[in-house]
Amino acid sequence: MKPINVGLLGIGTVGGGTFTVLSRNEAEITRRAGRPIRIVQVADKNLELAKQVAGGKVAVTDDAFAVVSNPEIDIVVELIGGYGVAKDLVLKAIENGKHVVTANKALLAVHGNEIFAAAQQKGVMVGFEAAVAGGIPIIKALREGLAANRIQWLAGIINGTTNFILSEMRDKGLSFDAVLKEAQRLGYAEADPTFDIEGIDAAHKLRIMAAIAFGIPMQFDKAYVEGISKLEAADIKYAEQLGYRIKLLGITRRKEAGVELRVHPTLIPAKRLIANVEGAMNAVLVQADAVGATLYYGKGAGAEPTASAVIADLVEVTRLHTADPQNRVPHLAFQPDRLSDVPVLPMAEVETAYYLRMRVQDKPGVLADITRILADSQISIDAMIQKEPAEGEGETDIIILTHVCKESAANTVIGKIEALAAVLGKVTRIRLEELQ
Ligand code: NDP
Ligand code: HSE
Repeated sequence: MKPINVGLLGIGTVGGGTFTVLSRNEAEITRRAGRPIRIVQVADKNLELAKQVAGGKVAVTDDAFAVVSNPEIDIVVELIGGYGVAKDLVLKAIENGKHVVTANKALLAVHGNEIFAAAQQKGVMVGFEAAVAGGIPIIKALREGLAANRIQWLAGIINGTTNFILSEMRDKGLSFDAVLKEAQRLGYAEADPTFDIEGIDAAHKLRIMAAIAFGIPMQFDKAYVEGISKLEAADIKYAEQLGYRIKLLGITRRKEAGVELRVHPTLIPAKRLIANVEGAMNAVLVQADAVGATLYYGKGAGAEPTASAVIADLVEVTRLHTADPQNRVPHLAFQPDRLSDVPVLPMAEVETAYYLRMRVQDKPGVLADITRILADSQISIDAMIQKEPAEGEGETDIIILTHVCKESAANTVIGKIEALAAVLGKVTRIRLEELQ
Protein backbone atom coordinates (compact mmCIF):
# COMPACT_ATOMS: atom_id res chain seq x y z
CA MET A 1 0.00 0.00 0.00
CA LYS A 2 1.11 3.58 -0.65
CA PRO A 3 3.17 4.90 2.28
CA ILE A 4 2.04 7.89 4.35
CA ASN A 5 4.70 10.60 4.09
CA VAL A 6 6.16 12.30 7.12
CA GLY A 7 8.24 15.47 7.37
CA LEU A 8 10.42 15.63 10.49
CA LEU A 9 11.27 19.01 11.99
CA GLY A 10 14.24 18.71 14.38
CA ILE A 11 16.41 15.63 14.53
CA GLY A 12 17.91 16.11 18.00
CA THR A 13 17.27 13.77 20.94
CA VAL A 14 13.62 12.92 20.24
CA GLY A 15 13.81 13.40 16.46
CA GLY A 16 16.82 11.09 16.32
CA GLY A 17 15.02 8.51 18.47
CA THR A 18 11.96 8.73 16.22
CA PHE A 19 14.08 8.16 13.13
CA THR A 20 15.83 5.16 14.70
CA VAL A 21 12.70 3.45 16.07
CA LEU A 22 10.70 3.98 12.85
CA SER A 23 13.52 2.37 10.85
CA ARG A 24 14.18 -0.46 13.29
CA ASN A 25 10.52 -1.47 13.75
CA GLU A 26 9.34 -0.60 10.24
CA ALA A 27 7.76 -3.96 9.48
CA GLU A 28 5.91 -4.18 12.82
CA ILE A 29 4.69 -0.58 12.60
CA THR A 30 3.44 -1.10 9.03
CA ARG A 31 1.48 -4.18 10.15
CA ARG A 32 -0.20 -2.03 12.81
CA ALA A 33 -0.78 1.11 10.75
CA GLY A 34 -1.97 -0.70 7.62
CA ARG A 35 0.54 1.08 5.41
CA PRO A 36 4.21 2.12 5.67
CA ILE A 37 5.03 5.33 7.55
CA ARG A 38 7.99 6.97 5.77
CA ILE A 39 10.03 9.98 6.75
CA VAL A 40 10.62 11.66 3.41
CA GLN A 41 12.19 14.94 4.50
CA VAL A 42 14.05 16.13 7.58
CA ALA A 43 14.73 19.74 8.61
CA ASP A 44 17.31 20.69 11.19
CA LYS A 45 19.41 23.79 11.74
CA ASN A 46 22.37 21.48 12.08
CA LEU A 47 22.57 20.03 8.57
CA GLU A 48 25.64 17.91 9.30
CA LEU A 49 23.93 16.26 12.29
CA ALA A 50 20.78 15.70 10.25
CA LYS A 51 22.71 14.05 7.41
CA GLN A 52 24.57 11.89 9.87
CA VAL A 53 21.43 10.70 11.74
CA ALA A 54 19.35 10.26 8.59
CA GLY A 55 22.24 8.33 7.06
CA GLY A 56 21.73 9.67 3.53
CA LYS A 57 18.37 7.88 3.31
CA VAL A 58 16.08 10.95 3.15
CA ALA A 59 16.19 14.51 1.88
CA VAL A 60 17.62 16.93 4.44
CA THR A 61 17.21 20.70 4.62
CA ASP A 62 17.86 23.50 7.08
CA ASP A 63 14.63 25.22 6.04
CA ALA A 64 11.80 23.85 8.19
CA PHE A 65 9.23 25.95 6.26
CA ALA A 66 10.13 24.02 3.09
CA VAL A 67 8.97 20.86 4.85
CA VAL A 68 5.62 22.22 6.03
CA SER A 69 4.94 23.42 2.49
CA ASN A 70 6.09 20.24 0.76
CA PRO A 71 2.99 18.92 -1.08
CA GLU A 72 4.27 15.33 -0.78
CA ILE A 73 4.05 15.40 3.02
CA ASP A 74 0.93 14.21 4.88
CA ILE A 75 2.10 14.50 8.51
CA VAL A 76 4.51 17.03 10.02
CA VAL A 77 6.32 15.94 13.19
CA GLU A 78 7.47 18.98 15.17
CA LEU A 79 10.41 18.13 17.45
CA ILE A 80 12.15 21.49 17.60
CA GLY A 81 10.63 22.72 20.85
CA GLY A 82 9.82 26.14 22.31
CA TYR A 83 7.04 28.65 21.63
CA GLY A 84 8.75 30.59 18.81
CA VAL A 85 9.33 29.16 15.37
CA ALA A 86 7.63 25.90 16.39
CA LYS A 87 4.30 27.74 16.69
CA ASP A 88 4.62 29.30 13.24
CA LEU A 89 5.59 25.93 11.75
CA VAL A 90 2.71 24.05 13.38
CA LEU A 91 0.14 26.68 12.34
CA LYS A 92 1.54 26.76 8.80
CA ALA A 93 1.43 22.96 8.55
CA ILE A 94 -2.22 23.01 9.69
CA GLU A 95 -3.02 25.80 7.23
CA ASN A 96 -1.48 23.62 4.51
CA GLY A 97 -3.85 20.79 5.51
CA LYS A 98 -1.24 18.57 7.15
CA HIS A 99 -1.70 16.56 10.30
CA VAL A 100 0.73 17.41 13.08
CA VAL A 101 2.44 15.31 15.72
CA THR A 102 4.39 17.14 18.41
CA ALA A 103 6.16 16.49 21.71
CA ASN A 104 6.11 20.20 22.50
CA LYS A 105 4.23 20.62 25.78
CA ALA A 106 5.36 24.24 26.16
CA LEU A 107 3.77 25.14 22.85
CA LEU A 108 0.50 23.33 23.60
CA ALA A 109 0.17 24.56 27.18
CA VAL A 110 0.51 28.16 26.05
CA HIS A 111 -0.96 28.14 22.51
CA GLY A 112 -2.94 24.88 22.51
CA ASN A 113 -6.38 26.53 22.32
CA GLU A 114 -5.40 28.38 19.15
CA ILE A 115 -3.69 25.35 17.61
CA PHE A 116 -6.59 22.96 18.30
CA ALA A 117 -9.11 25.49 16.97
CA ALA A 118 -7.09 25.85 13.75
CA ALA A 119 -6.81 22.07 13.40
CA GLN A 120 -10.53 21.64 14.04
CA GLN A 121 -11.34 24.18 11.35
CA LYS A 122 -9.06 22.48 8.82
CA GLY A 123 -10.20 18.96 9.77
CA VAL A 124 -6.68 17.79 10.64
CA MET A 125 -5.37 15.97 13.71
CA VAL A 126 -2.77 17.15 16.20
CA GLY A 127 -1.19 14.25 18.11
CA PHE A 128 0.64 15.07 21.34
CA GLU A 129 1.03 11.85 23.30
CA ALA A 130 4.78 12.53 23.71
CA ALA A 131 4.13 15.93 25.26
CA VAL A 132 3.15 14.49 28.64
CA ALA A 133 5.16 11.90 30.57
CA GLY A 134 7.31 10.85 27.59
CA GLY A 135 6.69 7.20 26.77
CA ILE A 136 3.69 6.67 29.09
CA PRO A 137 0.45 6.61 27.05
CA ILE A 138 -1.29 8.88 29.57
CA ILE A 139 -3.07 11.03 26.98
CA LYS A 140 -4.68 7.96 25.47
CA ALA A 141 -5.59 6.65 28.92
CA LEU A 142 -7.21 9.91 30.04
CA ARG A 143 -8.88 10.64 26.72
CA GLU A 144 -10.13 7.18 25.84
CA GLY A 145 -9.49 4.52 28.49
CA LEU A 146 -11.18 6.56 31.26
CA ALA A 147 -13.93 8.03 29.06
CA ALA A 148 -16.69 6.52 31.24
CA ASN A 149 -15.48 8.25 34.37
CA ARG A 150 -15.85 11.54 36.13
CA ILE A 151 -12.21 12.20 36.98
CA GLN A 152 -11.81 13.63 40.49
CA TRP A 153 -8.10 14.36 40.68
CA LEU A 154 -4.74 13.37 39.34
CA ALA A 155 -1.24 13.72 40.70
CA GLY A 156 1.89 13.06 38.71
CA ILE A 157 5.64 12.92 38.76
CA ILE A 158 5.85 14.39 35.28
CA ASN A 159 9.35 15.78 35.05
CA GLY A 160 12.12 13.21 34.69
CA THR A 161 14.96 15.65 35.27
CA THR A 162 13.77 16.79 38.71
CA ASN A 163 12.83 13.28 39.78
CA PHE A 164 16.29 12.13 38.68
CA ILE A 165 17.88 14.98 40.67
CA LEU A 166 15.84 14.28 43.83
CA SER A 167 16.54 10.52 43.61
CA GLU A 168 20.28 10.85 43.03
CA MET A 169 20.68 13.47 45.75
CA ARG A 170 18.83 11.27 48.24
CA ASP A 171 20.44 7.94 47.28
CA LYS A 172 23.99 8.94 46.45
CA GLY A 173 24.37 12.23 48.28
CA LEU A 174 25.43 13.86 44.97
CA SER A 175 25.28 17.61 44.54
CA PHE A 176 22.41 19.29 42.69
CA ASP A 177 24.72 20.62 39.96
CA ALA A 178 26.43 17.28 39.28
CA VAL A 179 23.11 15.47 38.89
CA LEU A 180 21.69 18.18 36.64
CA LYS A 181 24.72 17.87 34.32
CA GLU A 182 24.13 14.11 34.11
CA ALA A 183 20.43 14.64 33.28
CA GLN A 184 21.48 17.02 30.49
CA ARG A 185 24.02 14.49 29.18
CA LEU A 186 21.33 11.80 29.12
CA GLY A 187 19.03 14.04 27.05
CA TYR A 188 16.29 14.41 29.73
CA ALA A 189 16.59 18.12 30.40
CA GLU A 190 14.91 20.89 28.43
CA ALA A 191 17.00 23.26 26.28
CA ASP A 192 16.62 25.68 29.21
CA PRO A 193 16.89 23.47 32.32
CA THR A 194 15.29 26.12 34.53
CA PHE A 195 12.04 24.93 32.91
CA ASP A 196 12.66 21.58 34.61
CA ILE A 197 14.04 22.80 37.93
CA GLU A 198 11.51 25.56 38.50
CA GLY A 199 8.52 23.32 37.73
CA ILE A 200 7.53 25.06 34.50
CA ASP A 201 7.85 21.93 32.35
CA ALA A 202 5.72 19.98 34.85
CA ALA A 203 3.15 22.80 34.82
CA HIS A 204 2.96 22.65 31.01
CA LYS A 205 2.20 18.93 31.21
CA LEU A 206 -0.24 19.33 34.09
CA ARG A 207 -2.16 21.95 32.15
CA ILE A 208 -2.58 19.59 29.23
CA MET A 209 -3.73 16.73 31.48
CA ALA A 210 -6.18 18.96 33.40
CA ALA A 211 -7.77 20.10 30.15
CA ILE A 212 -8.31 16.50 29.06
CA ALA A 213 -9.37 15.23 32.48
CA PHE A 214 -11.98 17.92 33.14
CA GLY A 215 -12.89 19.21 29.66
CA ILE A 216 -11.64 22.75 30.27
CA PRO A 217 -9.58 24.99 27.96
CA MET A 218 -5.84 25.43 28.59
CA GLN A 219 -5.15 28.22 31.10
CA PHE A 220 -1.44 27.90 31.74
CA ASP A 221 -0.96 31.27 33.46
CA LYS A 222 -3.37 30.29 36.25
CA ALA A 223 -1.28 27.37 37.56
CA TYR A 224 0.67 27.71 40.82
CA VAL A 225 4.27 26.71 40.11
CA GLU A 226 7.09 26.08 42.57
CA GLY A 227 10.21 24.10 41.65
CA ILE A 228 12.87 22.23 43.59
CA SER A 229 15.65 24.83 43.62
CA LYS A 230 14.89 25.95 47.19
CA LEU A 231 14.53 22.44 48.59
CA GLU A 232 17.05 21.67 51.32
CA ALA A 233 18.68 18.31 52.08
CA ALA A 234 17.53 18.68 55.73
CA ASP A 235 13.88 18.57 54.63
CA ILE A 236 14.41 15.42 52.58
CA LYS A 237 15.95 13.85 55.70
CA TYR A 238 13.24 15.01 58.14
CA ALA A 239 10.54 13.90 55.72
CA GLU A 240 12.05 10.41 55.68
CA GLN A 241 12.12 10.32 59.47
CA LEU A 242 8.39 11.07 59.44
CA GLY A 243 7.71 8.33 56.86
CA TYR A 244 7.45 10.55 53.75
CA ARG A 245 9.32 11.13 50.48
CA ILE A 246 9.51 14.48 48.74
CA LYS A 247 8.56 14.52 45.04
CA LEU A 248 7.87 17.33 42.61
CA LEU A 249 4.17 16.68 41.95
CA GLY A 250 1.75 18.18 39.48
CA ILE A 251 -1.70 18.05 41.08
CA THR A 252 -5.08 18.95 39.67
CA ARG A 253 -8.30 18.39 41.60
CA ARG A 254 -11.91 19.16 40.87
CA LYS A 255 -13.67 21.03 43.71
CA GLU A 256 -17.12 22.60 44.05
CA ALA A 257 -15.87 26.09 43.24
CA GLY A 258 -13.30 25.24 40.56
CA VAL A 259 -10.19 23.28 39.75
CA GLU A 260 -6.93 23.20 41.71
CA LEU A 261 -3.90 23.38 39.44
CA ARG A 262 -0.51 23.31 41.13
CA VAL A 263 3.06 22.08 40.85
CA HIS A 264 5.25 22.02 43.96
CA PRO A 265 7.51 19.78 46.01
CA THR A 266 5.20 17.50 47.98
CA LEU A 267 5.57 15.09 50.88
CA ILE A 268 3.94 11.75 50.04
CA PRO A 269 3.71 8.75 52.40
CA ALA A 270 6.75 6.56 51.61
CA LYS A 271 4.53 3.48 51.38
CA ARG A 272 2.61 4.79 48.35
CA LEU A 273 3.69 3.25 45.03
CA ILE A 274 4.14 6.69 43.52
CA ALA A 275 6.56 7.69 46.30
CA ASN A 276 8.87 4.94 45.06
CA VAL A 277 9.14 6.18 41.49
CA GLU A 278 12.85 6.91 41.11
CA GLY A 279 15.29 8.32 38.58
CA ALA A 280 13.93 9.79 35.36
CA MET A 281 10.83 7.61 35.62
CA ASN A 282 7.44 9.30 35.60
CA ALA A 283 4.11 8.21 37.09
CA VAL A 284 0.60 9.61 37.05
CA LEU A 285 -2.01 8.58 39.61
CA VAL A 286 -5.59 9.21 38.51
CA GLN A 287 -8.62 9.04 40.80
CA ALA A 288 -11.87 8.55 38.93
CA ASP A 289 -15.36 7.72 40.16
CA ALA A 290 -16.04 4.40 38.43
CA VAL A 291 -12.64 2.74 38.18
CA GLY A 292 -11.11 4.20 41.37
CA ALA A 293 -7.38 4.84 41.38
CA THR A 294 -5.20 3.89 38.41
CA LEU A 295 -1.45 4.41 38.17
CA TYR A 296 0.56 4.88 34.97
CA TYR A 297 4.32 4.42 35.20
CA GLY A 298 7.22 4.49 32.77
CA LYS A 299 10.06 6.45 31.23
CA GLY A 300 9.15 10.10 31.04
CA ALA A 301 12.05 11.33 28.93
CA GLY A 302 14.85 10.25 26.62
CA ALA A 303 15.18 9.55 22.92
CA GLU A 304 13.46 6.21 22.35
CA PRO A 305 10.83 6.34 25.15
CA THR A 306 9.61 9.65 23.76
CA ALA A 307 9.86 8.37 20.19
CA SER A 308 7.57 5.52 21.26
CA ALA A 309 4.81 8.05 21.95
CA VAL A 310 5.54 10.11 18.82
CA ILE A 311 5.23 6.99 16.66
CA ALA A 312 2.04 5.86 18.41
CA ASP A 313 0.55 9.18 17.26
CA LEU A 314 1.87 8.60 13.73
CA VAL A 315 0.14 5.21 13.67
CA GLU A 316 -3.10 6.75 14.97
CA VAL A 317 -3.07 9.51 12.37
CA THR A 318 -2.30 6.95 9.63
CA ARG A 319 -5.26 4.83 10.71
CA LEU A 320 -7.71 7.72 11.10
CA HIS A 321 -6.78 10.29 8.52
CA THR A 322 -9.46 9.14 6.11
CA ALA A 323 -12.14 9.07 8.85
CA ASP A 324 -14.77 11.80 9.00
CA PRO A 325 -13.23 14.51 11.27
CA GLN A 326 -16.43 14.54 13.41
CA ASN A 327 -15.85 10.89 14.26
CA ARG A 328 -12.27 11.19 15.45
CA VAL A 329 -11.33 11.38 19.13
CA PRO A 330 -11.55 15.09 20.12
CA HIS A 331 -8.17 16.68 20.87
CA LEU A 332 -9.12 17.54 24.45
CA ALA A 333 -11.26 14.41 25.03
CA PHE A 334 -14.53 16.39 25.21
CA GLN A 335 -16.31 17.68 22.11
CA PRO A 336 -14.87 21.15 21.35
CA ASP A 337 -18.26 22.86 21.79
CA ARG A 338 -18.76 21.13 25.15
CA LEU A 339 -15.74 22.45 27.05
CA SER A 340 -16.68 23.99 30.40
CA ASP A 341 -15.39 27.24 31.83
CA VAL A 342 -14.80 26.02 35.40
CA PRO A 343 -12.34 28.51 36.97
CA VAL A 344 -8.87 27.62 38.22
CA LEU A 345 -8.91 28.24 41.99
CA PRO A 346 -6.48 30.80 43.41
CA MET A 347 -3.78 29.17 45.54
CA ALA A 348 -5.26 30.72 48.71
CA GLU A 349 -8.34 28.52 48.20
CA VAL A 350 -6.37 25.27 47.82
CA GLU A 351 -6.71 22.73 50.62
CA THR A 352 -3.79 20.55 51.59
CA ALA A 353 -1.73 19.47 54.60
CA TYR A 354 1.64 21.03 55.43
CA TYR A 355 5.12 20.23 56.60
CA LEU A 356 6.45 23.23 58.52
CA ARG A 357 10.08 23.46 59.66
CA MET A 358 11.28 26.30 61.84
CA ARG A 359 14.54 27.13 63.58
CA VAL A 360 13.83 28.27 67.14
CA GLN A 361 15.60 29.34 70.33
CA ASP A 362 15.60 26.42 72.72
CA LYS A 363 13.75 27.96 75.67
CA PRO A 364 10.53 27.32 77.63
CA GLY A 365 7.22 28.30 76.06
CA VAL A 366 8.34 28.46 72.41
CA LEU A 367 6.57 25.29 71.39
CA ALA A 368 3.47 26.35 73.34
CA ASP A 369 3.38 29.69 71.50
CA ILE A 370 3.64 27.95 68.13
CA THR A 371 0.96 25.36 68.85
CA ARG A 372 -1.35 28.09 70.20
CA ILE A 373 -1.08 29.99 66.91
CA LEU A 374 -2.06 26.83 65.04
CA ALA A 375 -4.94 26.09 67.43
CA ASP A 376 -6.26 29.66 67.15
CA SER A 377 -6.53 29.17 63.38
CA GLN A 378 -8.24 25.79 63.83
CA ILE A 379 -5.27 23.99 62.27
CA SER A 380 -4.76 20.61 63.80
CA ILE A 381 -1.31 19.03 64.26
CA ASP A 382 -0.80 15.54 62.85
CA ALA A 383 2.82 14.88 63.92
CA MET A 384 5.80 16.74 65.31
CA ILE A 385 9.55 16.37 65.83
CA GLN A 386 11.69 18.57 68.03
CA LYS A 387 15.39 17.92 67.51
CA GLU A 388 17.64 17.82 70.53
CA PRO A 389 19.89 20.88 70.23
CA ALA A 390 23.51 20.14 69.36
CA GLU A 391 25.82 20.47 72.35
CA GLY A 392 26.48 24.09 73.23
CA GLU A 393 23.84 25.32 70.78
CA GLY A 394 20.84 27.22 72.07
CA GLU A 395 18.83 26.60 68.90
CA THR A 396 16.94 23.71 67.45
CA ASP A 397 14.58 22.66 64.64
CA ILE A 398 10.88 22.02 65.15
CA ILE A 399 9.05 20.15 62.42
CA ILE A 400 5.26 20.05 62.40
CA LEU A 401 2.92 18.16 60.08
CA THR A 402 -0.56 19.66 59.98
CA HIS A 403 -3.89 18.21 58.97
CA VAL A 404 -5.55 19.58 55.85
CA CYS A 405 -6.42 23.28 55.91
CA LYS A 406 -6.81 26.16 53.46
CA GLU A 407 -3.63 27.68 52.06
CA SER A 408 -4.87 31.11 53.20
CA ALA A 409 -5.04 29.84 56.82
CA ALA A 410 -1.55 28.31 56.50
CA ASN A 411 -0.23 31.66 55.21
CA THR A 412 -1.68 33.50 58.22
CA VAL A 413 -0.23 31.01 60.66
CA ILE A 414 3.22 31.06 59.05
CA GLY A 415 3.25 34.86 59.21
CA LYS A 416 2.40 34.79 62.95
CA ILE A 417 4.99 32.10 63.72
CA GLU A 418 7.71 34.03 61.86
CA ALA A 419 6.82 37.10 63.94
CA LEU A 420 7.63 35.31 67.23
CA ALA A 421 10.91 36.58 68.71
CA ALA A 422 12.06 33.04 69.46
CA VAL A 423 11.62 31.89 65.84
CA LEU A 424 14.76 32.46 63.79
CA GLY A 425 14.36 33.22 60.10
CA LYS A 426 11.69 31.94 57.76
CA VAL A 427 9.43 28.93 58.20
CA THR A 428 10.02 26.28 55.52
CA ARG A 429 6.68 25.12 54.15
CA ILE A 430 6.26 22.01 51.98
CA ARG A 431 2.80 20.81 51.06
CA LEU A 432 1.79 17.26 51.94
CA GLU A 433 -0.65 14.98 50.15
CA GLU A 434 -1.80 11.60 51.45
CA LEU A 435 -3.01 10.59 47.94
CA GLN A 436 -5.53 8.18 49.44
P1 NDP B 1 16.89 18.82 20.91
O1 NDP B 1 17.46 20.16 21.24
O2 NDP B 1 17.71 17.62 21.20
O3 NDP B 1 16.49 18.78 19.36
C1 NDP B 1 15.90 19.88 18.69
C2 NDP B 1 16.53 19.96 17.33
O4 NDP B 1 15.84 20.95 16.56
C3 NDP B 1 18.00 20.38 17.39
O5 NDP B 1 18.78 19.55 16.56
C4 NDP B 1 17.95 21.83 16.91
O6 NDP B 1 19.14 22.24 16.31
C5 NDP B 1 16.83 21.75 15.91
N1 NDP B 1 16.27 23.07 15.59
C6 NDP B 1 16.18 24.16 16.38
N2 NDP B 1 15.60 25.18 15.72
C7 NDP B 1 15.33 24.73 14.46
C8 NDP B 1 14.76 25.30 13.30
N3 NDP B 1 14.31 26.57 13.29
N4 NDP B 1 14.65 24.56 12.19
C9 NDP B 1 15.09 23.27 12.19
N5 NDP B 1 15.67 22.67 13.26
C10 NDP B 1 15.77 23.39 14.38
O7 NDP B 1 15.49 18.73 21.66
P2 NDP B 1 14.71 17.42 22.13
O8 NDP B 1 14.72 16.40 21.06
O9 NDP B 1 15.14 17.07 23.49
O10 NDP B 1 13.23 18.03 22.30
C11 NDP B 1 12.39 18.23 21.19
C12 NDP B 1 10.97 18.45 21.71
O11 NDP B 1 10.55 17.30 22.40
C13 NDP B 1 10.83 19.61 22.71
O12 NDP B 1 9.58 20.21 22.53
C14 NDP B 1 10.89 18.91 24.06
O13 NDP B 1 10.23 19.63 25.07
C15 NDP B 1 10.13 17.65 23.73
N6 NDP B 1 10.39 16.52 24.59
C16 NDP B 1 11.67 16.12 24.85
C17 NDP B 1 11.91 15.01 25.62
C18 NDP B 1 13.30 14.54 25.91
O14 NDP B 1 13.43 13.56 26.64
N7 NDP B 1 14.33 15.17 25.39
C19 NDP B 1 10.81 14.21 26.16
C20 NDP B 1 9.50 14.70 25.82
C21 NDP B 1 9.31 15.81 25.05
P3 NDP B 1 20.23 23.03 17.22
O15 NDP B 1 20.62 22.06 18.29
O16 NDP B 1 21.32 23.35 16.25
O17 NDP B 1 19.52 24.23 17.77
N1 HSE C 1 12.68 17.77 30.37
C1 HSE C 1 11.62 16.85 30.43
C2 HSE C 1 11.79 15.99 31.67
C3 HSE C 1 11.62 15.99 29.20
O1 HSE C 1 12.84 16.03 32.29
O2 HSE C 1 10.86 15.27 32.03
C4 HSE C 1 10.37 15.16 29.09
O3 HSE C 1 9.26 15.94 28.85
